[in-house]
Formats: sequence, C-alpha cells, structure tokens
Amino acid sequence: MPFVVAEPCINCKYTDCVEVCPVECFHEGPNFLVIDPEVCIDCGACEPVCPARAIFSDANLPDAWKSYVATNAELAKRWPTITEKRKPLLDADKWRYRGDKGAELVRT
Ligand code: SF4
Ligand code: F3S
Repeated sequence: MPFVVAEPCINCKYTDCVEVCPVECFHEGPNFLVIDPEVCIDCGACEPVCPARAIFSDANLPDAWKSYVATNAELAKRWPTITEKRKPLLDADKWRYRGDKGAELVRT
C-alpha cells in the first residue's frame, strides 16, 4: 500500500520528505504536497522525517483522513513533480500544530 500525505502538511510544506524519497513520488501544489501512489515503492523513508507528521502508510492513515488517499491520487496527476527540498511556507511553524485545516487546501 502506498504512503499518503494527509492534512498536517497543509500550509507547512517542510519538504524534508522530498529529500529522502528514492523515486520521484512527490508532487507540489500551492500549500500541500502529495504522493503519486503509482510511483511510491513503499520504502517508508519519508514518514519519520516529516516535522508535521503528515505522512502515513495507507493502512495506518487515521479514519478522519481517509479521503486523502483519493486526494493524493487525484492531485498527483495534475501537480508538477518536486525533487528537491525547499524552504517551508512562511507560516509553517504557526500552522504545524493546528488541527482541522482541511478547508485550507488549495487544489488549483
Ligand atoms: Fe517515496 Fe518511499 Fe515515501 Fe513512497 S514511502 S513516497 S517511495 S519515500
Ligand atoms: Fe509536507 Fe511533511 Fe513533506 S509537511 S512537504 S509531508 S515533510
């Protein structure tokens, strides 16, 4: 089962995950990253390095965030690949511990 980026990434984008991925799984939107489930090889390297704890294996994804499986698959088809770590979003540390921020996701 592929790994999935869930709600805690929104408005943070620390991108530590990108740096450790051995294949090019990650795609970048304005305030969120997603994993392409067709490219992910399930190595698990990205999960422990995310400062926001946003990454889960499909099997361990909390119930409240199950919709992110579809969100990752959908947006990975539209958003460009990101292969290098970048600076986090300006207010990342402010948003890191905020719950219930799903409505903030910019899908364009
Ligand atoms: Fe990349 Fe491995 Fe994370 Fe999949 S589990 S996104 S292959 S680092
Ligand atoms: Fe997002 Fe965590 Fe990666 S905040 S960009 S999933 S390191």
